[in-house]
Amino acid sequence: MDAQTYWEKIYGTRAADAVSWYRPHLEKSLGLIEHAVSGHSASIIDVGGGESTLVDDLVARGYRNITVLDISHTAIDVTKNRLGSASEGIRWLIGDITSMELQPCSYDVWHDRAVFHFLTAADERTAYVRQVAKAVKTGGHVIVSTFGPEGPTKCSGLDVVRYDAGSLHREFGVRFHLLGSSTELHQTPFGANQQFLYCFCRIEWA
Ligand SMILES: C[S@@+](CC[C@H](N)C(=O)[O-])C[C@H]1O[C@@H](n2cnc3c(N)ncnc32)[C@H](O)[C@@H]1O
Repeated sequence: MDAQTYWEKIYGTRAADAVSWYRPHLEKSLGLIEHAVSGHSASIIDVGGGESTLVDDLVARGYRNITVLDISHTAIDVTKNRLGSASEGIRWLIGDITSMELQPCSYDVWHDRAVFHFLTAADERTAYVRQVAKAVKTGGHVIVSTFGPEGPTKCSGLDVVRYDAGSLHREFGVRFHLLGSSTELHQTPFGANQQFLYCFCRIEWA
């Protein structure tokens, strides 16, 4: 089964708050985004945003240049419907982050929670990093969150790669200046704990 069919099936059969990665609010992500940018006009992309409430919270805080990208039409439709008329001010992109066309130098902030760790093949990770380096402005910020070293080895039935700050940063390379990293213990809606790692980088001049 290809990735798009897989994720359509997940979102077609589960409510937004009935998936292991669900949190009512992505507080850590919001904090890092607010730390990264000074104004509300910053261009922010949530990669693999799924049905998360990050976009709702960014809109509520006044950010007005937001893009949400996901491989699943269903997830994007659910999120759009939840937002109602506010969805009209958001750019919605549907596609595979490793291969879709992105505008060069267009984002101040790249946010990914729980997408990069699904890329178990080295060529997929290389393609992903190439996309970030192309689409994020020089001086822009990159927030990537994966399962940490003590996190699960699978998510939603798919194998994942777990990272610590060093191994995740090595995937991105020296142009990505590591500003900070931390872990978060995420409690799933089913009561289990999952360790997430957050890395926060700035893209330096080439
Ligand atoms: C574990 S969920 C995380 C969703 C959201 N970021 C959150 O934290 O609630 C992973 C998301 O990545 C999306 N996804 C998986 N592979 C992708 C790819 N290659 N390109 C774009 N999106 C992808 C899935 O559809 C799903 O919405």
